[in-house]
Amino acid sequence: MRRVFKFLLYSIGILVLFVAAAAAFFYFKGVPSYAFAPTAEIAGLKVTKDSVHIARGAKIAALMCNECHLGEKMKMTGKIMPDLPKEFGAVASYNITQDADHGIAKWSDGELYYFLRTGIRKDGSWAPPFMPKFPLMADEDLYSVIAWLRSDDPRLQATPDEYPPNQYNLLVKFLSNVAFSAPPLPDQVIEVPDTTDMVALGKYVANGMSVCFPCHSADFKKFDLLVPENTPGFYGGGNPMLNMEGEIVHSANITMDKETGLGKFSRQQFLEAVKYGKNPRGGSLVYPMFPHTTLTDQEVNAVYAYLQTVPVIHNPVDRYVRH
Ligand code: HEC
Ligand code: HEC
Repeated sequence: MRRVFKFLLYSIGILVLFVAAAAAFFYFKGVPSYAFAPTAEIAGLKVTKDSVHIARGAKIAALMCNECHLGEKMKMTGKIMPDLPKEFGAVASYNITQDADHGIAKWSDGELYYFLRTGIRKDGSWAPPFMPKFPLMADEDLYSVIAWLRSDDPRLQATPDEYPPNQYNLLVKFLSNVAFSAPPLPDQVIEVPDTTDMVALGKYVANGMSVCFPCHSADFKKFDLLVPENTPGFYGGGNPMLNMEGEIVHSANITMDKETGLGKFSRQQFLEAVKYGKNPRGGSLVYPMFPHTTLTDQEVNAVYAYLQTVPVIHNPVDRYVRH
């Protein structure tokens, strides 16, 4: 008996040591860095900064950037992210105004393109998953975002305010090493699908351009940016997030399940939910679901058509449990 006991103690001791060593390892290793390796074409990229690209970029930014980067003075100086679950610690987004020292005025178009695809900066440092990466966004759409970043939109005017660099906690360092990595560059040009194929267009809007699935799946700690369909609980909702009051809201199941998803709601109700934040059961949808007003009706209808093809998940979500 005593020997068994001793053995158990040893085993637990070794396990504790192992866990402590692993924790120390990730703590000191930190968020990984990567080689900054743009192709010659990307390195020399000069995007067209005409009004068409700028307008398209502004539309995408309203869906994908402003929410996180628009600071207090209505400038894109960054802010402390209000809706991040506490386990991740405090995280700020950075200054992306045209300020030379604090913003992105000195970044080339190619550096911006490479960063938006992979999260890797010129110095090899990598932005953890709070800054989204866009491996599936069409090249033209990324060019548009870059054109917009260079535009005379007042929100982008050079402004020096900025937060100190993020100090990530152990969980973020751990996840950045084992659960997430920099997505590779696409191996061919990605085009925006045309409107003759509504399912393909909807898939692009939902997964590549407006990126609805990380919120609308099971868990922020597990999503697959490259093959969104492999994300656990893909569009089945339930992922806990915080509203502006710091209360937990679980994302909605937006698969076509009749009981627990969108199966019994009409296309019009879907459109009003996505574009104007109307809850199909009455009232308004709460933050962080925000009205996607810059999506066209056609794009939202395309997302609806695409969601008809996504495997149905039966997942009753208790959306507003207060913990
Ligand atoms: C969910 C929140 C979120 C969204 C959405 C978001 N960002 Fe960020 N962004 C961040 C965070 C957080 C960082 C800081 C990353 C780090 O700590 O390395 C960041 C960093 C950056 C940087 C690097 C700045 C620097 O000085 O290193 C750029 C450029 C950037 N974002 C551009 C964009 C653009 C363009 C969009 C829209 C297409 C966007 N971001 C959308 C949160 C976000
Ligand atoms: C930042 C996270 C987030 C993003 C991004 C997001 N959603 Fe949501 N969505 C939510 C949350 C949370 C709810 C639940 C809100 C509530 O119950 O009031 C919700 C609710 C909804 C609803 C209402 C469903 C119902 O049964 O009431 C629809 C439809 C929807 N989202 C579609 C989309 C689409 C389409 C996109 C992409 C264009 C998207 N969402 C992007 C978090 C998000």
